[in-house]
Amino acid sequence: MKREIIQTSDGSSTIYIKDLDEHYHSKHGAIQEAYHVFLKSGFFPFLKNNKIEELSILEIGLGTGLNAFITFIEAENLELKVRYDGVEAYPVSMEEVKLLNYVEELKVLDKQSIFLQMHESEWETYQFISENFQLKKRKQFFDEIENINTFNLIYFDAFGARVQPELWEVSIFQKMYNALKANGVLVTYAAKGSVRRAMQEVGFEVERLPGPPGKREMLRAVKKG
Ligand SMILES: C[S@@+](CC[C@H](N)C(=O)[O-])C[C@H]1O[C@@H](n2cnc3c(N)ncnc32)[C@H](O)[C@@H]1O
Repeated sequence: MKREIIQTSDGSSTIYIKDLDEHYHSKHGAIQEAYHVFLKSGFFPFLKNNKIEELSILEIGLGTGLNAFITFIEAENLELKVRYDGVEAYPVSMEEVKLLNYVEELKVLDKQSIFLQMHESEWETYQFISENFQLKKRKQFFDEIENINTFNLIYFDAFGARVQPELWEVSIFQKMYNALKANGVLVTYAAKGSVRRAMQEVGFEVERLPGPPGKREMLRAVKKG
């Protein structure tokens, strides 16, 4: 399917798939949404509530690499060790990566080479992006994920249920639940009642939180240990 790079309302880029009429991020602001849903509602609260030496993160839909990049920036500020698995079945091309303006919009021009390195790094093995940050890009379909008790945090960033309803069902959330360690947390931009109920059915405790601009609510699910 043809992908197009477009600009969202906060000035940051995203990818638009015309055939699906679906964006990779909120059109109200890609960076704004990524920080709100994954960092402010996932990464920071998790670190506040849990004392850990190394944070392990699974991202469902690595896409443009924006979530991985902002996690890298914040983890470096905290001198935190991170192991980051990004699952993606349809990787972006380097031509597309070069059109994304995240380094400029985040005002981290000194990290241009890191953003490129994340995309150019080898797939299927952990690669050191810095001394503290390891990235493993996994070219895989989400329903092939078989990790057990592996991650502290899941960034669940699949396309919406309108275009891929099968990714928001009990069978996928069961895999997510299994992949988390005790007290692990899953965050997602979605807020639908059917999604919340599917999460609860597999054992998650689910909270509704304020959503990013343009969205009333989002969900955070905890695997109680
Ligand atoms: C909402 S976008 C992810 C946005 C991404 N987190 C970012 O910051 O750019 C959803 C991603 O899931 C990928 N995808 C769609 N269906 C998939 C599947 N069944 N298995 C694995 N990846 C899939 C798409 O290629 C796309 O990159």
